[in-house]
Amino acid sequence: MKRTQHCNELRPAHAGQTVTLAGWVHSRRDLGGVLFIDLRDREGRTQTVFDPVDLPAEVFATATKLHSESVIQLTGSVRVRPTGTDNAKIPTGQVEVLVKEMVVLNHAAVLPFPVDDPEVANKVNEELRLQYRYLDLRRPEMMRNLRVRSKVAIATRSHMDEQGFLEVETPTLFKSTPEGAREFLVPNRRDPGTFYALPQSPQQFKQILMVGGIERYFQLARCYRDEDLRADRQPEFTQVDIEMSFIDREDIYALIEGLLKRVWKIALDIDIPTPFKRISFDEALNRWGIDKPDTRFGMELVDFTEEFRASTFKVFSGAVAAGGVVKAINARGLAGATQGQLETMTETAKGFGAKGLAYIKVENGEWKSPIVKFFTEAEKSALVAKLGIQEGDLILFAADQWLNACEILGKIRLYCADVLKGQGKLVIPADRFDFLWVIEFPLLGFDREMNRWYSSHHPFTAPVEEDIPLLKTDPKKVRGQHYDIVVNGVELGGGSIRIHQPDVQRTIFEEILQIPPDETQLRFGYMLEAFKYGAPPHGGIALGFDRLIAILCGTPSIRDVIAFPKTAKGVCLMTDSPSHVTGRQLRDLHIEVKAAPKKE
Ligand code: AMO
Ligand code: AMP
Repeated sequence: MKRTQHCNELRPAHAGQTVTLAGWVHSRRDLGGVLFIDLRDREGRTQTVFDPVDLPAEVFATATKLHSESVIQLTGSVRVRPTGTDNAKIPTGQVEVLVKEMVVLNHAAVLPFPVDDPEVANKVNEELRLQYRYLDLRRPEMMRNLRVRSKVAIATRSHMDEQGFLEVETPTLFKSTPEGAREFLVPNRRDPGTFYALPQSPQQFKQILMVGGIERYFQLARCYRDEDLRADRQPEFTQVDIEMSFIDREDIYALIEGLLKRVWKIALDIDIPTPFKRISFDEALNRWGIDKPDTRFGMELVDFTEEFRASTFKVFSGAVAAGGVVKAINARGLAGATQGQLETMTETAKGFGAKGLAYIKVENGEWKSPIVKFFTEAEKSALVAKLGIQEGDLILFAADQWLNACEILGKIRLYCADVLKGQGKLVIPADRFDFLWVIEFPLLGFDREMNRWYSSHHPFTAPVEEDIPLLKTDPKKVRGQHYDIVVNGVELGGGSIRIHQPDVQRTIFEEILQIPPDETQLRFGYMLEAFKYGAPPHGGIALGFDRLIAILCGTPSIRDVIAFPKTAKGVCLMTDSPSHVTGRQLRDLHIEVKAAPKKE
């Protein structure tokens, strides 16, 4: 009794044929003695009819008692549904199968939540969905997401293969290299007190592969980071990881644009225009207040530093005198913002150390604001001219050091778009994809607390050639050969051209990042050693594969595109991990747990 079709296949042309289907009892309706069961499998649904006239009494009786999601196999004949009873919503909606035989392959217990009603299913709390993930996966949305994921993975492999890349697997038992996010450690039984670490990315291995002469490497690589989790971050996630030799930045841009073009075509049948726009880090901050701008909507940051340099409003002129800037955004249509919403925005500003957030509400032809009394006519007309102020606008100001002022307004800009969305005013068009490269990042940032420089990307990123002399004189000004690929305000991936000269790499480690030589040797000695024996110039990139799929599926959470994700607390609710281990396991590993945390 093999199945002859999937549940999405039958059409009026099959009428009269005997078919066998297998799947899950999706829904049941009892219509005056005749029983209708919608049978579902991975591909779709088919209506089946149990008429007691055509069936042995015990088969009919069993069918009437089937729980939802029981697994059955049916044989019967296809017929066209009587006019007026067809269902235009499903491809098999014009036919039904009149059942002659049924085998119950497995009974299902009463479900913890319904799988058949999308309205109800979408409201089920996510913890319950994750605990019973196998039921959740039966929902068409989840099935579609995993299908997109699989298709894109396969297309990526084909594309990279056609471009001459080798897929190489790198170890997931790696060496601890505390840099960036916190690592997951794996104790080594053979040498007490030593540990492997799970890799945060295959960065070092892929560079070594270039020294190994592989020239073009890629991998769908699993990465592990013990960081605070959010909708777009998981403790284990997948990267499309890439490295190439004898290239410059242009080669990476062209490769990724080609790959994304193919992926968008395959997943969404959309032709995305290439090449993508390129925006410098400075421009991204200046105009959108963030290094991953969502350029699908305006509300751009406007600079008023010069206009307020000599203002009698000390908050503004004082910030300028201290070397800072005054910037503003015009949130069109938000003059009616509530006190609560203004407070949320003010909290954002305070989070950056500002004393507050100045605003003007333009209502009933009036500028309502605690600060306009300080403004001269010239200052007011500058605001009108540069912000195009109209009735209903909310103007928000940040007066601060450049980076702070930009980042404050960048956050508030996104918040305002969200508030407007809540009011039904869609400022961000759906179904649009704005791709861009953000380039010319500063190579280094300064950690005030630790009083030292840190790499803004990672320590292997090469400085822009002409900025190398500045490394020793003005490190802040050195730009890195780093690029991020951004779509709709999401950082999809990032990478860089690497340092391939051991002396430059050593300078970065020891003189700039101030890692003591013995520690450099311990952590990166093997890399510096490898670079001595003919390292080709090289560079690469990694795309967040889960984020890529989430964007293609139109879901804000990468949990929806991962078969078995973890919660925000890093827990797998289905298997209940992480979990306690036995004293014996710990003894074998020479591990003593100081404070056994209480089980809740
Ligand atoms: P980076 O750290 O920028 O670069 O990571 C590359 C991309 O990986 C995705 N990503 C994540 N996705 C889900 N959950 C996470 N916790 C998470 N962290 C990062 C993001 C990000 O853009 N080795 C370098 C790449 C290189 O230089 O070639 C690296 O890992 O989409
Ligand atoms: P104050 O004179 O401190 O009462 O501030 C006057 C107004 O300026 C208030 O609305 C504050 O929220 C706002 N304000 C204070 N500091 C800043 C700043 N750094 N940038 C923008 N507005 C500010």
